[in-house]
Amino acid sequence: MYPSKYYDPFDKERSVLVLIEGLKNYQNKLHIDLERWYYYSMDGIRSIKEINVEGKRVFVRVDFNVPLDENGNVADDTRIVAALPTIRYLLDRGAKVILASHLGRPKGQRNEKYSLRPVAEALATLTNQPILFLEDCVGSEVEESVQEMAENSIVLLENLRFHAEEEGNDEAFSKSLAKLADVYVNDAFGTAHRAHASTVGMVPYVKEKAVGFLIEKELQFLCDKVDHPERPFCVVLGGAKVSDKIGVIESVMDKANHILIGGAMAYTFALAEGRTIGDSRVEPDYVDFARQLIEKAKSKGVDLQLPVDTVTTKKVDFDHRQLGELKVFEGNIEAGWEGVDIGPKTADKYAQLIRSAKTILWNGPVGIFEIEASAKGSYAIAQAMAASEGTTIVGGGDCVKAIHQSGCADKITFLSTGGGASLQLLEGKPLPGLEALKQ
Ligand code: 3PG
Repeated sequence: MYPSKYYDPFDKERSVLVLIEGLKNYQNKLHIDLERWYYYSMDGIRSIKEINVEGKRVFVRVDFNVPLDENGNVADDTRIVAALPTIRYLLDRGAKVILASHLGRPKGQRNEKYSLRPVAEALATLTNQPILFLEDCVGSEVEESVQEMAENSIVLLENLRFHAEEEGNDEAFSKSLAKLADVYVNDAFGTAHRAHASTVGMVPYVKEKAVGFLIEKELQFLCDKVDHPERPFCVVLGGAKVSDKIGVIESVMDKANHILIGGAMAYTFALAEGRTIGDSRVEPDYVDFARQLIEKAKSKGVDLQLPVDTVTTKKVDFDHRQLGELKVFEGNIEAGWEGVDIGPKTADKYAQLIRSAKTILWNGPVGIFEIEASAKGSYAIAQAMAASEGTTIVGGGDCVKAIHQSGCADKITFLSTGGGASLQLLEGKPLPGLEALKQ
């Protein structure tokens, strides 16, 4: 796994870690970035800072899988903005920057709806320089255009997933992509959990390879800050299903001081505690597992909190973003009522624990935040995190949407750009896109 996972006091890496800790006292005199060295040196993953990119064709796998509005324009440029530090760094050093991404799931077919052309326009505005958009990502015309590139220029290739070979991790396709590059950089954190041609297949065919600054930052927060948290460490876990979060719950059980449960998965825990949950969503097959987790938390001295009250309704109209009459239950929920959010007492209690923590990680909304009437619990979490003086980390996907919706996004220390990738990392599982870069 990634560097912060070294526990064995007798192994070589552990010794290196101890050495680094000692060296940190001399950080100012050493003029090297110990944190960064610490992340990558042991796994053999290089940073772009370690590669001379001047005049070279640098193929950067980015994740520009962004939402488009009804007019086909970029509706949220967060992921494009997140890739800018790497792009700017390469341009400043005279590289020829070739950007490659997927957009949506076009199932291996060319489909204008999923074209990256609107992204090229957004990128031109953000970088304040022209972007040469190519109609394809492989083939002789693409190769010629790339050969003709000037230093400090940017090319954006068309959607990689217009070719089924991308997701199929096809060897010939991987080699065609590799032909475009002198240097390979992966900065597509959101896609690092996919073993595709552009994230894994092409890597062995390019001599020099590295990660970009976005991936470095994601690892710094989702690995290091979570594995070595300043305490108290409080983890808020929500989302619909316990089954989706098994890996994360088990993983944080070894690290957190407080685990605050919300979202529909709380009803499976409530059943495990012998409470009634009315018509709330539940996973009957996971009730035993939830019971074991409650026991495990007790035996480890982890403070696992379940909601003490719940906002419920008899009607959820998701399409029109409306709920029927609302009723708050403390403890048991009556038949006919469905839980849609944590109640006000729970929100207050959770907010208090969050405010007194030094590190807070949030993964998964605690209610149906897409509907205003059941977004209050998620907003309370967001506001408590925003008010915290500790390190606040939001682990991607819906939770990031909830934070933006709450208006608190700019007060959070780190918002992950990955959904599935951040979940996989928090579970402590390796990411194929990073494994491929180990030399
Ligand atoms: C994401 O948005 O999670 C990534 O871009 C990966 O997309 P995918 O789930 O379609 O592979």
